[in-house]
Amino acid sequence: MKHIFITGGAGFIGSAFVRLILAERPQWHITNFDALTYAGNLDNLDGVDAARHRFVRGDIANREAVLAALDTDTAAIINFAAESHVDRSIMSADEFLRTNIIGTQVLLDAARAKNVKRFVQVSTDEVMGSLPEDDAAFFTEDSPFAPNSPYAASKAAAEHVVRAAHHTHHLDTVTTRCGNNYGARQFPEKLIPLLITNAMNDESVPVYGDGQNVRDWIYVDDHARGILAALERGASGATYCFGAREPRRNIEIVRSILASLGKPESLITYVTDRKGHDRRYAIDSTRAETELGWRPLETWESGIAKTIRWYADNAKWIERVRDGAYQAYYQQQYGAPSRAPTL
Ligand SMILES: NC(=O)c1ccc[n+]([C@@H]2O[C@H](COP(=O)([O-])OP(=O)(O)OC[C@H]3O[C@@H](n4cnc5c(N)ncnc54)[C@H](O)[C@@H]3O)[C@@H](O)[C@H]2O)c1
Repeated sequence: MKHIFITGGAGFIGSAFVRLILAERPQWHITNFDALTYAGNLDNLDGVDAARHRFVRGDIANREAVLAALDTDTAAIINFAAESHVDRSIMSADEFLRTNIIGTQVLLDAARAKNVKRFVQVSTDEVMGSLPEDDAAFFTEDSPFAPNSPYAASKAAAEHVVRAAHHTHHLDTVTTRCGNNYGARQFPEKLIPLLITNAMNDESVPVYGDGQNVRDWIYVDDHARGILAALERGASGATYCFGAREPRRNIEIVRSILASLGKPESLITYVTDRKGHDRRYAIDSTRAETELGWRPLETWESGIAKTIRWYADNAKWIERVRDGAYQAYYQQQYGAPSRAPTL
């Protein structure tokens, strides 16, 4: 039996990773440590095998709570926990610095204290900033850091503390950087679930600026498989970029989703652009493909079809997120979140 410690496993990507592990690594069991912020949703873990999955509510920046939950037999920590929404970081960066940087350092310290063998940091292409609009440039693992939003800056800082733990303390670390994910169970403040859920209700779909920003979209389960490949086969200290080579302009995404749902383009409403909005992201995943043997299984067309189907079939999930019932449920289960003093 292999025991892994996942943080942020009640969120969008973390819960997809939990499902992947339970399905494909029958000998593994999971401790899932999550603070259940507004983005954490126990509904995302509905139906998971309770015998191999232990949920602990806790804050990664709370050293005592992390040490109490982290067993000495833990083979790896996979750190998904983060404040993840750029718009929120523009309104206030405090929680981003606290969770994304201090929380990561606490986990690294705990990994050393409990002799955890491997630490995987789930990061983002946004640490590398924005690419010029011409189609020739791609991010690689060697692209310089150039974070443009408080979110991206906090994730870049987190990568630096991971690197420092590897260099100074010889902790076995791997970092993954991925482009924009879409798929089931994504909180509907992010572009694709917002589009789908608004359009399904005949509500207007907001598009930032001129809608020409380019994102490299990847289906969430492909990202989860990439993280598993990095955990199992990544070189110590290495970074791996994951993208599906599916760069698209935001407006193309909106039109494609409206067409799939049979909804009119008159639902589109252009809104004031996000401050400092990165223009273009695109990822070259050659290293992940050659060293990890990873490649995405879904195309944009197959992935978005699955995604739309999931939202269409899970009206209850959407309703509970939209009306806050999911939060009432965990307040009842776990009470108010405990926040510890920062370092
Ligand atoms: N969504 C994307 O497109 C994308 C792309 C690349 C990388 N990432 C990275 O992947 C990770 C997961 O992203 P996501 O989209 O699933 O995010 P999410 O916002 O859906 O989930 C984040 C989870 O972390 C938990 N969390 C937040 N603060 C915490 C704390 N202090 N202690 C413990 N748990 C806490 C939340 O409750 C939630 O369950 C993040 O690190 C993010 O930076 C996301």
